[in-house]
Amino acid sequence: MLSKLRRLLNSGFRHLSSASTVSRVASSSPRERPRLLFAFHGGNKTRPGMGQQFYREEAAFRQTIQRCSATVERCMGFSLSDVFEGRDSRPANSPEETERRNIVILSALELALCDLWQAYGVEPEAAVGISGGEIASVLKLLWDAGTVTTSMLIATSALLLLRHPRIKAEAQRNLRVLPTFIDEALRFEAPDQLASRVTREDVELSGVVIPAGANVKLCLGAANRDPEHFTEPESLSLQRNPNPHLASSAGPHYCLGAFLARMEARVALETLLTVWPNFTAARPLSTVSYVESIQFRALKYLFVKAA
Ligand code: HEM
Repeated sequence: MLSKLRRLLNSGFRHLSSASTVSRVASSSPRERPRLLFAFHGGNKTRPGMGQQFYREEAAFRQTIQRCSATVERCMGFSLSDVFEGRDSRPANSPEETERRNIVILSALELALCDLWQAYGVEPEAAVGISGGEIASVLKLLWDAGTVTTSMLIATSALLLLRHPRIKAEAQRNLRVLPTFIDEALRFEAPDQLASRVTREDVELSGVVIPAGANVKLCLGAANRDPEHFTEPESLSLQRNPNPHLASSAGPHYCLGAFLARMEARVALETLLTVWPNFTAARPLSTVSYVESIQFRALKYLFVKAA
């Protein structure tokens, strides 16, 4: 399975959404849009969304939102500034109104990102030949792809260390094994389980013909445990060399931040292992649970004690 997926990722398929979050938002269904909105402007109590953070820290971004806010309030009866400041706004009266609001919020976010970019002295079209909307889209993709995935990896890696005391002891004795451990953690608990593609032509896979134009989800997590490629795929091992897993995908859309993510995880785990060498689980590991998602392998919580 692993080599078939690698072949599919390298050729014969076109990326479904590529680097365009704008097109993802534009083509998103009314059901999916609130989730996208949540990631981009909403965040949660511990981690503000991109829009909220820019609103707080970037005057150009804040001014655009505030400039639009009065008009939006007059026409639609809710405050954009409240949304970006994380305050509760007047609740919407119907699902249709929520949907209209979501579209307005995303458009304002888009506009404010373009203004922010220009405030840094870059005229998007003139400078790099791509539009402000595309730049805003890339910023949003980086925000989305570059933050949650890495925090998932760090949390699951900490859990794996707690579940495998011998590996933890070895990493503590010799921090240089951490890169090998992180690659194995990526194989074992791939934070992003699926890659999306559209078939350009009919493709045969294990006797099944997938017609041209089909939306296909490729399960990277399953490929990473393919017994034809990995000895004892269900065990966590520091002896895998090479470790040709697909957690960062493959081909032209190979994860842009693959090396950055590994470096961030290494620094986080090095700190954990050296500053709190005796860290233990604060709750029984049997109670650990995962976010309900077929896309992401993410812990809901991991409570640890420093000693
Ligand atoms: C552990 C952390 C990470 C994991 C598991 C991960 C995984 C992935 C996967 C599976 C893809 C899909 C590729 C495809 O469709 O074939 C991807 C794409 C991407 N990732 Fe990551 N990623 C991580 C961290 C990051 C970071 C830190 C950044 C940026 C700073 C980043 C930026 C991107 C971008 C821009 C793409 C789209 C590439 C394209 O479509 O050409 N990722 N990543």
